[in-house]
Formats: sequence, structure tokens, C-alpha cells
Amino acid sequence: MSSLKIAIQKSGRLNEKSVELLKNCGLTFENYKSSLISSVSNFPLEILFLRDDDIPEYVQDGIADLGIVGENVISETGVNVHFLQRLGFGKCTLKIAIPNESELVQINDLEGRAIATSYPNILKKYLSDNQINATIRTISGSVEISPGLGLSDAICDIVSTGGTLKSNGLKPFADVMSSEAILIGKNGIEEEEAVKELMQRIQSVLKAKE
Ligand code: PRP
Ligand code: ZN
Ligand code: MG
Repeated sequence: MSSLKIAIQKSGRLNEKSVELLKNCGLTFENYKSSLISSVSNFPLEILFLRDDDIPEYVQDGIADLGIVGENVISETGVNVHFLQRLGFGKCTLKIAIPNESELVQINDLEGRAIATSYPNILKKYLSDNQINATIRTISGSVEISPGLGLSDAICDIVSTGGTLKSNGLKPFADVMSSEAILIGKNGIEEEEAVKELMQRIQSVLKAKE
């Protein structure tokens, strides 16, 4: 059969660990920063380097067979893909954060406020679960600067080390969802022999780390 394709993040929080996992599985490939596709020389696999936000749809549409992506991105896009394996890295929390000097005290204080986020669907559900009416401002990146620009009263974004919040004068306010990297596949791909083999290798790598 022809090579499987796995999509991983091109740059960002999950890139390095995704490459490391595949190398630890015994796969040999070039990891050029400039090329967007790389062939594995000792396994029927091609690696596509993509923006993380695009990976769920690529897998759903079958352009990639497999993908490594944060659970948060899967929840946001609501795609129909097969969940294969939790990968134990890229742990982070989607949080609502507010300026250090904000007078907001409890989550109900968000009523009538504006919240900037790249995760409008997850945030919408969180607000409705908590019966809060707030304005969601969808921004694709650099969400953390929006309160300082007067665009929002709060943000909802991924927090890992907390460094980005800190350097933008923000503090955590509420946890919305926790997330880590997961392996997904297009529906039915789990039946392929090469996928079974790759998953076995991934499981051994994860086990060795325990
Ligand atoms: C998240 C978030 C912040 C950063 C926070 O980005 O948007 O930029 O990580 O990490 P920290 O708490 O360690 O400072 P993500 O990795 O999801 O990438 P993207 O926003 O470029 O998709
Ligand atoms: Zn992203
Ligand atoms: Mg970001």
C-alpha cells in the first residue's frame, strides 16, 4: 500500500515533542524547518508539517491519515475523527484570564463583559453552562494583548507555563478545559497494519517513560 501520512505541528508548543516521539519510535526522517513534507526512510510514512489549527480538518477530510494535535483544537473544531491515543505531552489548560488590576472577582462578574479568544466554540459552551452572557471576540492570535488595547475585559487562551500571561500583565481567573497532545486518525484507519504497528511502537515509547 502507499505511504500513510501523519500531520504534526510545524512550529509551536507541540512540534518538538511530536518529532521526538516519532524518532523514539525508530523512524528515520529529515526534520528540515523549511520543508513541509518529509518521507520516513524505514517505514511507509510521510510527515506533513502544518499549522496545528488545520490538522483536525486535514485528518477528517483524509488528506492526512493521522495527526498529532491538542485536545483543545479537536474540541474547538468539532471534527469527526477517530481518537487513537493520549500522548502525555503538551499538557496545558484553556483558561480565562484577566488583567492584574481587574476588579472582577467571580466568574459571574463576566456578565456583560467582552472576552477575546481563539476558541469561540469552547468558550460559548462554557459561558452558557455557567449561564453567563458575555460578548465573545474571536481573534486568531496574540489574544493576550487584547485587554491592554481596550478590546476586551478578559481573554480565554491556552496556558502552559503561564509565562505569556505574566508578560502581558494578566492573571488566571477560571479554568475552562485541560488538554494534552493526542493521536487522531481518519475514521477506519485504525484497521491498517501500518497504523497498528506504529501505535504499538508509540505505546512502547510511552510505557518506557512511565
Ligand atoms: C498557546 C497560547 C500562548 C502560549 C501560552 O499557544 O496561545 O501563546 O501557548 O504558553 P505559556 O503559558 O507557556 O506562555 P499555542 O501553543 O496553542 O500555539 P498557537 O496559539 O500558535 O496555536
Ligand atoms: Zn494554534
Ligand atoms: Mg498562541
